[in-house]
Amino acid sequence: MRNFDQFTITQAVLARIANGQDRRIHEISSALVRHLHDFIREVRPTQEEWTQGIAFLTDIGHMCTDTRQEFILLSDTLGVSMLVDAINHDHKGVATESTVLGPFYVESPPEFACGADISGDLVGAPMFVSGSVATADGAPLAGAIVDVWHSDEDGYYDVQSTAPDAGLAARARFRTDAAGRFHFWSIKPAAYPIPHDGPVGKMLEAQGRHPWRPAHVHFMIEAPGHERLVTHVFVAGDQYLDSDAVFGVKDSLIREFTACAAGTAPDGRQMDRDYCHLHYDFRLLPAAQAASQAA
Ligand code: BEZ
Ligand code: FE
Repeated sequence: MRNFDQFTITQAVLARIANGQDRRIHEISSALVRHLHDFIREVRPTQEEWTQGIAFLTDIGHMCTDTRQEFILLSDTLGVSMLVDAINHDHKGVATESTVLGPFYVESPPEFACGADISGDLVGAPMFVSGSVATADGAPLAGAIVDVWHSDEDGYYDVQSTAPDAGLAARARFRTDAAGRFHFWSIKPAAYPIPHDGPVGKMLEAQGRHPWRPAHVHFMIEAPGHERLVTHVFVAGDQYLDSDAVFGVKDSLIREFTACAAGTAPDGRQMDRDYCHLHYDFRLLPAAQAASQAA
């Protein structure tokens, strides 16, 4: 086979990959070739534009380190991460909706007893968080693992600090009590721009977009026999709820961070300052349902 033109080349590549043994790899490769060729035929890049495209992807790769994953940022900002999430997590109207993981999760965060203050040496407006974890039917899940992490009042995560002695802060692991409940203290997070000092930032600028995410608290919740839930709770009223740079906002995940006056807090703590209170009741899908969704 030879002498391909801009249309016959697609069939030639599809024929060349037809003999692979793995059915799924074949399915993915042929869809990639078909869509990529259609994209190129639609866009009709000049040779110079093609070189720029290769340079952009090369820059994305060069930006990646152990602590910076520019390809995930690219996926997030093009809406691909949330598309994959939507395909794989159908909450069926009964379980808590999921959203992007983001790059700031730390495996096995420090575990605290319920009621702890996890703000470390960060300063900010006090925030009391309470919640519960239950099955989709509402049965409490005792002993569920609840990982939380969030930004400080300036919109930075602990892991973004360049200070040599910076430790973990505003992140923790809790376990739900016999009634499936948990609570803790921290500081109220702020909206923040996703890392935009690299090629993804340049792309956002060229596309006429801002890099901001609305203020939120991340949760990753695991309980035996249930699908792991990766989600956030967003601060109601945030100015970026309708223009999240990574398309992660869902109405069901927005809550008031209710302003409370100094005095006795819901856990009995005496507060000499005003604080805010976030409450969220999480519901997990059974693992079997999660597996059947994937089938
Ligand atoms: C985050 O919420 O931590 C996040 C998500 C996607 C990209 C950057 C940050
Ligand atoms: Fe975040």
